[in-house]
Amino acid sequence: MADKQAESTFGVNKLILGDNLDVLKTLPDACVDLVYLDPPFFSNRNYEVIWGDSGEIRSFQDRWSGGIDHYIAWLKERVEQMHRVLKSKGSLYLHCDWHANTYIRVQILDKIFGEKNFRNEIIWSYKRYTAASKKFQNLHDTIFYYSKGDNYRFNEAREDYGQNSGKMDSHYKQDEDGRWFRWQKRKDQEPYKIYLSEGRRVGDVWEMSIINASSNERIGYPTQKPEALLERIIKASSNDGDIVLDPFMGGGTTIAVADKLNRRWLGIDQSPMAVKVTDFRLQKQADFFAAPYTVQLHKYDYDTLRYKDAFEFEGWIIAQFGGTANIKQRGDLGLDGKMGDNTPIQVKRSDNIGRGVIDNFLSAVQRYDKNLFQKNKKARAPAGYIIAFSFSKGAVGEAARLKNEENIIIKLVKVDEIVEVAVKPVISVNIKELERDAKGIRTIEFTARGESGAGVEFYSWDFEHDKERGFKASVIMDKEGRQVIPLKAGTHNIAVKVVDNDGLENIEAVRLRLNGKVKREE
Ligand SMILES: C[S@@+](CC[C@H](N)C(=O)[O-])C[C@H]1O[C@@H](n2cnc3c(N)ncnc32)[C@H](O)[C@@H]1O
Repeated sequence: MADKQAESTFGVNKLILGDNLDVLKTLPDACVDLVYLDPPFFSNRNYEVIWGDSGEIRSFQDRWSGGIDHYIAWLKERVEQMHRVLKSKGSLYLHCDWHANTYIRVQILDKIFGEKNFRNEIIWSYKRYTAASKKFQNLHDTIFYYSKGDNYRFNEAREDYGQNSGKMDSHYKQDEDGRWFRWQKRKDQEPYKIYLSEGRRVGDVWEMSIINASSNERIGYPTQKPEALLERIIKASSNDGDIVLDPFMGGGTTIAVADKLNRRWLGIDQSPMAVKVTDFRLQKQADFFAAPYTVQLHKYDYDTLRYKDAFEFEGWIIAQFGGTANIKQRGDLGLDGKMGDNTPIQVKRSDNIGRGVIDNFLSAVQRYDKNLFQKNKKARAPAGYIIAFSFSKGAVGEAARLKNEENIIIKLVKVDEIVEVAVKPVISVNIKELERDAKGIRTIEFTARGESGAGVEFYSWDFEHDKERGFKASVIMDKEGRQVIPLKAGTHNIAVKVVDNDGLENIEAVRLRLNGKVKREE
C-alpha cells in the first residue's frame, strides 16, 4: 500500500536531464520496481570526453582524479538512493567490468543491500576483436543482481536447448503424445516431468552479441548495450505496468525496451545528448508506446513550449512550479492545479493575459475554498497563482490594485520565471546529386548546418518524413550532419533535426522531386 502511494506522487514515463544524485533525491521512497544501471566504468580514460562538452570533461577529471576510492564513494551515494527508491519486491542490476567489479560488490552492493540479498553475478560473455596482449582476452562484463528483500519478484527465464537439443540421453522417454521428457526428483518430492520442449532454466552466463558496427540496433551511442540483454533483465524482474528506472540512461536501451514491454519507466542522464537520443529512439518506436512521456531539460525554447499540447503543458509547467495538476481535465471552476497547501493555480498557455482572466480567477478561487481564501488573505499569502507567457498592463495593474486596496494577492507568474527559456538552434540543409546509375537511382548528398550559441551536438534524419505521423528518425545520431543516400525517381519528404548542447532542437523539412532534375519544393 505504501508502495502504491509513493507511485502516485511522482510522474513516470519521463526522461530527465540532470545528475542522477539530485534527481533521485527528489523521488519518494519505495516507488520503483526495477533499477538497471550501467555507470561509467572506472576504466574510462576518455569516457565523457566523448561528449565533447567541456563541462563534462572537467567533471570527469575531477571525479576520478581521486582514484578508485573516489569512484566508489561517488557511486555509493547514488546506489544508496537507488536502494531507497526501490520497492520492497524490487531488484537492482548493476553493470560493470573487471576494472571495478570487486570493489563495487564488496564496498557498495553488499554494504547497501546486504550479502543475503545478493542473487547472481551474471557474466555477459561476447565476442569482439581485442588487440594482442600478453594475457587472455577480456570478453565479458559483470552484472550484479541484488534484490531489496526476500520477497522479490522473479519470473523464471527459460531458453532452448539450441541445436543440440537432441542431447536426449537414455533418461528421456516419450509420452503418449510423442513429447520427450525425463523424470526429475527433488529432495523430499515426488518425481515430476521435465519436457525437452520447455527448454532449460537460464543460467548466469549470458552469451549475447555486442552492438557492433553493422548491428541494426546501433544508434551510434558509445557504450550502447544490446536490447536482448535488457529484455532478459526486465522480463525476469518486472511485470506489465511496473516501473523501471535507469539512472545512467545513455542511449536509452533500457527505456526503449521497457517501453516495448509495456512497463512504465524513468530515465536520467546528465548529458543532453543522451536525453535527446533516447527521445528520438522512443519517437521511432512510437507504435509500442503504452503512454505519452515527458522530457525534462534545463532550458526550453518558446516555440516548443507554445506548441506543446495544451493539457500536457499545463501538467508540466505546474509540476515545474512545484504544484500538482488537477487530474480532471478542467474542473467547473477552471482551476488547473494547486500548491501543496491547496492554493489554486491556473495556467494560460498564451501571451498578454488580460484583466478579465484575473476577475474570473478571483471569483473561482473564492468559491473553491472560502476558508483557505480567508486564511491566505489574513496571512498576506497568495490567494492563487496564474501562470502565463506574459500579462497585459491591465492584468498587472489589477493584481496590484487587489493587493494594495483589498489585501488579496493574485500572483502572476511568467513561464520564464519558472523555467529557463533559451533560443533554439537554427538549421539549413543543402542538397546535391552526386551521381545517377543506369537504373536512374540517384545518389544524393544532404548536408545540414546548424547554429546554436550553446553548440551543436548532433543531427537526426527522417528519410520518410510525414508531418502527421511526426518525426521518426531513420538515422538517430549523426555528428557530422552529412548523409549520402540512394533515391529513386519520385517525390521524397526528408527532415533533419539539429540538437544543441542544451537539448534544444529545430527541424527543417524538405520535399524533393526527382524527375529529370533534382527539384526542391520547400
Ligand atoms: C555507460 S553509459 C550508459 C549506456 C546505456 N546503458 C546504453 O545502453 O546506451 C553511462 C551514461 O551515464 C551518464 N552519466 C554519467 N554520470 C552521470 C550522473 N552523475 N548522472 C546522470 N548520468 C550520468 C553518461 O552521460 C552516460 O550517458
